[in-house]
Amino acid sequence: MYGLTDKGFVVAGGAGVAGECVTLALLRRGARVVVPSRTSERIERLRSGVEPELLPRLHTLVGDVGNPTDAEEIRDRVSAEFGPIDGVVASLGAWWEGNVLTEVPFGTWQRVLHDNLTAHFLVARTFLPELADRPGTVYVALAGIAAIRPIAGSGPISVTGAAQTMLLRTLEVELADAPVRLHEVAVLTPIVTRHWPAGDPVERGWLSGEQVGEYVASVASPDFPDKTSLGLRIPADWEV
Ligand SMILES: NC(=O)c1ccc[n+]([C@@H]2O[C@H](COP(=O)([O-])OP(=O)(O)OC[C@H]3O[C@@H](n4cnc5c(N)ncnc54)[C@H](OP(=O)(O)O)[C@@H]3O)[C@@H](O)[C@H]2O)c1
Repeated sequence: MYGLTDKGFVVAGGAGVAGECVTLALLRRGARVVVPSRTSERIERLRSGVEPELLPRLHTLVGDVGNPTDAEEIRDRVSAEFGPIDGVVASLGAWWEGNVLTEVPFGTWQRVLHDNLTAHFLVARTFLPELADRPGTVYVALAGIAAIRPIAGSGPISVTGAAQTMLLRTLEVELADAPVRLHEVAVLTPIVTRHWPAGDPVERGWLSGEQVGEYVASVASPDFPDKTSLGLRIPADWEV
């Protein structure tokens, strides 16, 4: 297991379902982790799932990374209180299913676009310049299966997921000479965590929160052997 002792991370969306798994895994490997969330309820929910001995290395703050001014304030606070960070994990947006594309209400479209794409743009725009020039830094964005496979009734998240991939590919080209590593990890199954609704079926092969957290923490480690790949997928052999 690659260690992350004393490395500093920001996990944007770290109070969400997938973000919590990543936050826990980073903490368990020795990292210091900052998690911003728009609500104190989400922060409390996150903190309730963290082992007490890890809590001193978890720093939480209320703020909105999906708002450009707030995002910059969060970055400046993190920089002033914790010093330079070594990595950012963007675990933003969420699963959505509802109408077929031609019947998606305009307000829903705009909200999904904001949560699942604009928030990624803002986090990258705000935090990547801080990482870009320093060797050993890493930026990891999470994605889901809808980014790769069109799913009837989930069109908005397929569209934003595909656009998120292109966002990262463009950043990769623009930062070709910078030492920061960029990775996108597509998690291809639902993630079964402590938030999984009681009684809901779990299919064979679906990933646990621990598996996802461990994988993303490995990708975030400077020892991760693949220094360049954007198109990481777990499970690697899952049909899409
Ligand atoms: N959960 C799964 O089973 C699963 C499976 C495969 C892949 N994934 C991937 O994991 C990633 C996160 O999904 P999730 O299931 O963890 O979703 P989630 O539980 O809803 O968490 C998403 C997080 O994104 C943040 N966020 C959303 N919209 C935002 C906005 N407009 N401005 C600022 N922050 C915003 C939220 O932050 P706040 O704390 O501020 O609300 C929230 O904590 C996605 O890329 C998804 O495709 C998840």
